[in-house]
Amino acid sequence: MEIYKITSPKEWSYFANGSANILFKYTGTNDYLTHKLLRLRLLKEDEEYISTCELYDFIELKCKHLFPKQIIDIQLIVLTSEFVRGLDSAGFKLQLNERYGLLIPNILDGNYTKIALSKHCQLYLGSDDNNTAGGTHAANQLQQQPQQVQPQRLQQQPQSTQSRQTSTNVNDYTSLTQDINPLNSGQDLQQQQQQQQQKQPHFNNNIIPGGQSMNGKFTAAPLTSESTINSIIFEIKPKWLYDNKSANYCRTCSLNQLHKVQRHFCPLDLLYPNTIDQGIDDIFSRIPPDIINLIEVQNNFPLKQLFRQFLSNPDHNVFAKLKQYQKINNKNDLIENLTSSSDVSQNLSLVMTLRDVGLFIKFEKYDKNNNIHNSHNNINNLITLPPLAFSPPQPPSQSTQINGSASIPVSGSSHNHQDQDQYQTQSPAQDQSKQGQKYLVTCNIYDLDLKSRMKYKYWLQVEHELQGIYNSNNPSWRHCCKYGDQNN
Ligand SMILES: Nc1ncnc2c1ncn2[C@@H]1O[C@H](COP(=O)(O)OP(=O)(O)OP(=O)(O)O)[C@@H](O)[C@H]1O
Ligand SMILES: [Mg+2]
Ligand SMILES: [Zn+2]
Repeated sequence: MEIYKITSPKEWSYFANGSANILFKYTGTNDYLTHKLLRLRLLKEDEEYISTCELYDFIELKCKHLFPKQIIDIQLIVLTSEFVRGLDSAGFKLQLNERYGLLIPNILDGNYTKIALSKHCQLYLGSDDNNTAGGTHAANQLQQQPQQVQPQRLQQQPQSTQSRQTSTNVNDYTSLTQDINPLNSGQDLQQQQQQQQQKQPHFNNNIIPGGQSMNGKFTAAPLTSESTINSIIFEIKPKWLYDNKSANYCRTCSLNQLHKVQRHFCPLDLLYPNTIDQGIDDIFSRIPPDIINLIEVQNNFPLKQLFRQFLSNPDHNVFAKLKQYQKINNKNDLIENLTSSSDVSQNLSLVMTLRDVGLFIKFEKYDKNNNIHNSHNNINNLITLPPLAFSPPQPPSQSTQINGSASIPVSGSSHNHQDQDQYQTQSPAQDQSKQGQKYLVTCNIYDLDLKSRMKYKYWLQVEHELQGIYNSNNPSWRHCCKYGDQNN
């Protein structure tokens, strides 16, 4: 598709970036492009540069068949030099000689509030656009009075507004909800996040480094204690997944210690039945209690239970599947054995890509009138929690139905008696409570970038630096699980 024939650069605004790519969101009126993002390459040294065509072929030929339903749809589109130069890239340098880009669905399309939990884990709470407290907050007003604003200027003038008529509105919890609950994950974390953001700017719509909102004075919190939450997304980078046979710390935890990042969760815990609870508890430990309360009690959204369910089902556990495909079969594919770029095999290239993917795991309340929820593709993504899901912890015989067929035991509910009472007296959907609650869980894998073989030097260097950490003992960092230790 020749995108410049149906849209102009002015219809795209800066959305986010990583270290190698920048994303723009569509702000025009073309139905086909609405809800889509344009992903372009950032400027890189020649020897490290991988073109968009190479990325596209790699994803389609080498990755797609491994996760046919989960890898995010990508479409290769043709650009002109004029189009690329016309984009407002918020000061980031684009690869101007690149003639291709990728068009992808915007998973964060909607009215989401972002809660940054840690470097590799974000939480997004989606509330109804029209269902925010008081109905007067500025995000709604802005949607009625769209204005055109340049993202660079927004950085300098946070009071400015950035908006568009339809679609995405990702808000930043750290600034938006100060009045209901200041982020209480500790000074260290905030400082780390700020440092990280300064090193590697990463904006999502109206978020700027330092946790302020680009919408400035217009960010009357869309997320309030009254908010109706109908969709919740975790964005997680699982990084290196493997059976850790002997080291005290896994590769990811070792690297985080090297970078002096505060411990959040160990990705290996998400792999095994006996460690899943630990992993989930760690992930949830960074969610402020008020937010947990808003989700689980006020909105009757049993997020933790759903997350556990998602991981406990071997067909759903994307972490376990990623581990399977990250497997190194040949000792030549161990990084410490690389001696030149030509040693990087096709398998190692694939493994290195899979060690760096991102996941969007989206939990939604099932809506029987939503065609997407009812689509054939989602048949296997429905989870039905039993009618008594909100009662006090149940005996082990309690079970959960998936797809109306398989029955899988659910460990204790995270709700207490009081929650149950609230549920019974306040829930508008009491009928549903009798039949059991249905949820839709969808998982998308993004960022399957092929890495340059020239990176082998950097991989070797990092491995060298990690040697002293793998078997160290850090009093403030529990050891990672060892394969076989707990029959995992
Ligand atoms: N399809 C999508 N929908 C919504 N947001 C997205 C989507 N794809 C990416 N993002 C956001 O944009 C950010 C940067 O995108 P991406 O990970 O593709 O860039 P990158 O340069 O490859 O990053 P990294 O340096 O982590 O490899 C992501 O962390 C995510 O928050
Ligand atoms: Mg990447
Ligand atoms: Zn670990």
